[in-house]
Amino acid sequence: MKTFSGKVAVITGAGSGMGRYLALLLAADGADVCVCDVNEETLNDTVEMLEEYAISVSSHLLNVADKEAIEALPGKVLEKHGKVDLVFNNAGVTTGSHFKDMDEANWDWVMGINLDGVINSTRAFIPHMIDRPEAAVVNTSSIFGMVAVPGQTVYHTTKFAVRGFTESLALEMRDTNPNLQIHCVHPGHIGTNILASARMSDEDFNQEEEGKRPSIFTRNAPKTKQEMGDIFREGGMHPSRAAQIILEGVKNKKSRIFVGLDAKLLDLSQRLFPRHYHKTWALFMPLIMIFRNKKPLKQFG
Ligand SMILES: NC(=O)c1ccc[n+]([C@@H]2O[C@H](COP(=O)([O-])OP(=O)(O)OC[C@H]3O[C@@H](n4cnc5c(N)ncnc54)[C@H](O)[C@@H]3O)[C@@H](O)[C@H]2O)c1
Repeated sequence: MKTFSGKVAVITGAGSGMGRYLALLLAADGADVCVCDVNEETLNDTVEMLEEYAISVSSHLLNVADKEAIEALPGKVLEKHGKVDLVFNNAGVTTGSHFKDMDEANWDWVMGINLDGVINSTRAFIPHMIDRPEAAVVNTSSIFGMVAVPGQTVYHTTKFAVRGFTESLALEMRDTNPNLQIHCVHPGHIGTNILASARMSDEDFNQEEEGKRPSIFTRNAPKTKQEMGDIFREGGMHPSRAAQIILEGVKNKKSRIFVGLDAKLLDLSQRLFPRHYHKTWALFMPLIMIFRNKKPLKQFG
């Protein structure tokens, strides 16, 4: 894809993190944007930030797990913007408990947003994008769609599935509609609000038993959910940098977009050591954490 200028882009989960910076960078490149989120306050903040760009903006308060709302979205986008060229299925959540301790409601919550949300949105938008001269569906999986850790069973279930869905769709489109690019995004650790918003309670952090701790992110032994959310946000690549890498990947037609050196090396580890990849991580993860770029892009600094 040569340029985003003049295109219309839909971004889900645009109220925070990577979704917000995808919207801002696309706007800076001259794309009109339709931003969606389930959080009204943060969605409005994104809309306010978009005011400094001379583009057309629309916003929708919606839950991507709500099939009817997603099915109605393309019509609303076409009514306002006349076309749709880019869809970023970015909204995502997680929870932290081990499978045996997890409420079924939390399981369904993550599945509905991370997997059904991506599939239903792709299904709803594709008919409107298939005849565009240059278009792209960009589905966010994770490096956790490539490798697995304990305490993230439902997250892995969705992210491995998003990868399978997206890669199969990419092969279908390559043969029938090569104008419609299909991308799967695999971020490593990006400093966003995803853990602060995760469905976990402070009790999850007071457990003495190592085996019951909710996730690998507890390795720094935070005492509360807020502390864990802060450590995670402060320790990751800045989401503006992640968004820039994603957009470069779309321009360069990369079917798999890895975001961050951690994502690339974790992927390599599972290719080289399919059964023992975890054992290699201690060799390189500490160094990567030190050199990770946590500063925002200049224009957002
Ligand atoms: N942060 C990371 O390290 C990381 C790593 C790999 C993959 N990811 C993925 O990247 C994507 C973006 O996450 P982020 O890290 O920017 O997190 P974030 O929490 O900062 O942003 C996610 C946004 O999605 C919105 N959202 C949540 N539920 C929604 C729903 N039902 N409908 C609509 N919007 C909803 C939230 O309100 C929030 O604004 C997610 O799919 C996440 O799984 C993140």
